[in-house]
Amino acid sequence: MYQYRPTCLTLPAVAVALLLSSCDSTAPVAEVSFSKQIQPILTQHCLKCHDEKGEGTVASGLRLSGYETLLQGTKFGPVIKPGDSLSSTLIILVEGRANPSINMPHGNQTPLNSGQIQTLRQWIDQGARNN
Ligand code: HEC
Repeated sequence: MYQYRPTCLTLPAVAVALLLSSCDSTAPVAEVSFSKQIQPILTQHCLKCHDEKGEGTVASGLRLSGYETLLQGTKFGPVIKPGDSLSSTLIILVEGRANPSINMPHGNQTPLNSGQIQTLRQWIDQGARNN
């Protein structure tokens, strides 16, 4: 006699779901350009405090006016780990994963939107190159 066995139906469904989600995250992404995509985000949202004499630069030593100074980081060290966006300080701060008082941009500035954060993360994961 036929017996309903849920595993026969649910297992393939779970497998398909897993497959789909893993395909999604490993899908090839276009190369992100520092000069065309990253610097404009920094210029628009960060530079007023992180240019030569901005309060962020004075307090932390981090200048966001170009590639070299971005990679140099703060007086305490790098804020970007090429290939590892998850543990890059800059991403932790713009994603708001740190203490809210030190999230970037500071204060009541407009936070980066998820598309901008995604672009930053992709660029770092692709090696944070000066491209
Ligand atoms: C309103 C001013 C302001 C804006 C805008 C701003 N910052 Fe900052 N930033 C600061 C100040 C001040 C500090 C010094 C450390 C602190 O007070 O947290 C700082 C420090 C930092 C640090 C170093 C934190 C550490 O661990 O030492 C990073 C990274 C940073 N900012 C990234 C950014 C990025 C990326 C943006 C743009 C998305 C941005 N900031 C926009 C003011 C600002």
